[in-house]
Amino acid sequence: MELPFAEPYKIKAVEPLRRSTREEREQWIKEAKYNLFNLPSEQVFIDLLTDSGTGAMSDQQWSEMMLGDESYAGSASYFKLKKVIGELLGMPYFVPTHQGRAAENLLFSAMIKAGDLVPGNAHFDTTKGHIEFRRATAVDCTIAEAADTNLDHPFKGNIDLHKLEEGFKNNPKDKIPLCIITVTCNTLGGQPVSMQNIREVSALCKSYGIPVFFDAARFAENAYFIREREAAYASHSIKEIVREMYDQVDGATMSSKKDAIVNIGGFLACRDKELFDKISMYCILYEGYLTYGGLAGRDLAAMARGLEEGCDYDYLEARIGQVAYLGKLLKEYGVPFQEPTGGHAVFVDAKKVLPHIPKEEYQAQTLAIELYLEGGVRAVEIGALLADRDPETRENRYPALELVRLAIPRRVYTNNHMAFVAACLGNIYARHEKITRGFRITKEAPIMRHFTVELERAT
Ligand code: F0G
Repeated sequence: MELPFAEPYKIKAVEPLRRSTREEREQWIKEAKYNLFNLPSEQVFIDLLTDSGTGAMSDQQWSEMMLGDESYAGSASYFKLKKVIGELLGMPYFVPTHQGRAAENLLFSAMIKAGDLVPGNAHFDTTKGHIEFRRATAVDCTIAEAADTNLDHPFKGNIDLHKLEEGFKNNPKDKIPLCIITVTCNTLGGQPVSMQNIREVSALCKSYGIPVFFDAARFAENAYFIREREAAYASHSIKEIVREMYDQVDGATMSSKKDAIVNIGGFLACRDKELFDKISMYCILYEGYLTYGGLAGRDLAAMARGLEEGCDYDYLEARIGQVAYLGKLLKEYGVPFQEPTGGHAVFVDAKKVLPHIPKEEYQAQTLAIELYLEGGVRAVEIGALLADRDPETRENRYPALELVRLAIPRRVYTNNHMAFVAACLGNIYARHEKITRGFRITKEAPIMRHFTVELERAT
């Protein structure tokens, strides 16, 4: 018998969790104006809001925190990180940033101007926010297969080369400052991009003289999928695949709160010295001096170690295996989700769970609230609330998919927690026909409204 995977670590410290009653949760979510971001974490039993900054650091990383060098300039911890980024990713230049969106801010300050077009595969919301804030447009060139949640496609994060080239042909080159490949593609379900697609996108962009950057938050999980699903890479190491991925691109923004398994931090890496010099100016302006970029020395040291740990095959197998395990249980309950399961999360298909709720009443948000009420599980809406209004027309944008993301923090929850979450959704699905009304917005911000939106029950 082939032996199953098991986590390549054991637990040294535990954090108590408190269960609550349905009555308490009814009250709390009402006080939170039906926005799960407003809930104090003590009111949550299992928190699947995000896998970002919520991972458990290893004892080695905690040791690095003690070894952190807090010098303002030239910190030893900076050089530790520089060495890892150079060796693992092959990127000669980098600046640390306080998190991923800060790296986006620096890169886009240097590269994007009003009226520009930035193609990519379903840009993450902060990426899109930073692009639109500069009066530029994020153009989604993801393959059409990604929108069919039933379809079992190995690389739903891939970019459609035809769509991409149409954009290149129909617009002047100086309006397309860069192309962004998000690995894995969070918005579409943590879906990976194949090495072949990365290569082809890179070659096409090169032929039009357009630089390519990774939004690299979950690059190691993407590398794992390439190893598992792309025949040519079955016997490669994760590090070899990672290096080959980065070899195709001009640079990357990184939220280290994901695959570098730290609670805060990010960086921006690139190959071009001229671009690096421009970015350096913005880094000093927005983040801090070039060798700390808004972080403590200990954060840099923990990040260097985390980048190595995040690329460990056995760790990735257990991590992505846990996500798949949750998917398997949901399937047993008949709950529809984006298939196959992604690297960091399961994305439940709210349109299919709650088909009676009109899209104007926010199907995914309604399901996320039901899930909280059922078992104190906090997930996040990836649907019409997140999609915001069109910046020009101010009309609500209704995306093709209404998803509830169950994002799994790294090395934090056990499979019993996953079984609990699946049972909650199983119960909701069993009574889904009785849920017929959703929510109405009472207050919203002009951009990225989902973080602070206030809602009431539609009647
Ligand atoms: N890019 C991707 C693909 C992301 O998923 C995120 C964050 C960012 C960029 C921004 O990084 O948070 O460090 O500033 N995603 C989190 C999430 C917030 O919940 O998926 P950040």
